[in-house]
Amino acid sequence: MTTVEFSPAAEPLAAKLLEPAREILARYPAGRERSALLPLLHLVQTEEGHVSPSGVAFCAEVLGINKAQVGAVATFYTMYKRRPTGEYLVSVCTNTLCNVMGGQEVYDGLVEHLGVGHDETTADGKITLEHAECLAACDYAPVVTVNYDFTVDQATPQSAVELVENLRQGREQTPSRGARICSLKEMQYQLAGFADPRDGAVADGVAGAPTLRGVRLAQEHGVAVAGFDPDSPITKTKPARAEGALPPRTDAADKPVESKPSGSRIAAVAKKATETVKAAAGVVVEKVEERRHAGRTTDTGDLKDPEVRAAESRNPTADTPGGAEVASPAPTNAAEKAGVESNETAGDGKPAGDSTRGEQIVSRGTADQKPATVDPNPGWQNVPRGTEEEK
Ligand code: FES
Repeated sequence: MTTVEFSPAAEPLAAKLLEPAREILARYPAGRERSALLPLLHLVQTEEGHVSPSGVAFCAEVLGINKAQVGAVATFYTMYKRRPTGEYLVSVCTNTLCNVMGGQEVYDGLVEHLGVGHDETTADGKITLEHAECLAACDYAPVVTVNYDFTVDQATPQSAVELVENLRQGREQTPSRGARICSLKEMQYQLAGFADPRDGAVADGVAGAPTLRGVRLAQEHGVAVAGFDPDSPITKTKPARAEGALPPRTDAADKPVESKPSGSRIAAVAKKATETVKAAAGVVVEKVEERRHAGRTTDTGDLKDPEVRAAESRNPTADTPGGAEVASPAPTNAAEKAGVESNETAGDGKPAGDSTRGEQIVSRGTADQKPATVDPNPGWQNVPRGTEEEK
């Protein structure tokens, strides 16, 4: 990066963040530095806790792009905060599985206890609450994270309230998993791509019991995948295999009684499912062909425009295009009756003013007429004019 003259808006952040910003940019190929925008926005949050207009200016000036481009990215992702955020961002998953397991109750309990709602911060500046979509730990539902670290697994309203009270009072809170709880600004440094020095910050080791619950159930019921050992530690690199060597055998693989019949059973089920799908597809094709040969259109279900369907559901009694013909209202007086009688019905279901229909009416009405003389005021044609006195 060449020397950059920062604007007064970006200058204060530049004084603190230019060095780490250079480090981030150096990770990208020359000419592709603008891809560093995401980590740069996290870097800005290490100082500010959110992305302020100064943060936007700093990123734009470092990368040589405009502020609208930075704003478009910063406002798209929920992890970039637009307002000052508390020291601890408490996220409660209210997505499907967590919700079924009580996530909404946990969130509601915190709303009531803290007196703040989604994306709001307590008056002491300690806690920002948010409800989140899947936090990627469904096996531990309902899940509560603090600054994106898994902090309370299988949360209850009580355990969540206890958590936030400990954080507010500065009491030690041991997370369910991982490293000690850090501040949101500290976490942003890691998200910007710098090493996290906390013990246990990088998860490793054997998966927990809730994660393996499905595997255990499968084993209990005699369903197993050959060669799979749920107790295998998670390794960072793939173990090298000697040329020509067979996959390493494990205890599970040593149990042919469990693995072999299960494998063949799965294959049999898959084969049967394939046959069933093929048979069903054959029936559909036959029906379509039948209808085509009978000269009928195929019933393809409800093909109404979604807007029409939405309008119908809003007002089910209203007439909508394609609906049943509705009788015209009866004339209520002699003038209306005369008007209705002098107007031919369209008959073809086309709306008034339809070009073909309009041409027919015009040609039929003028075929046996002499060419009309141009009247400067056709609206008054054939209307008896009264005298000024009569008017
Ligand atoms: S649904 Fe809550 S963590 Fe996935």
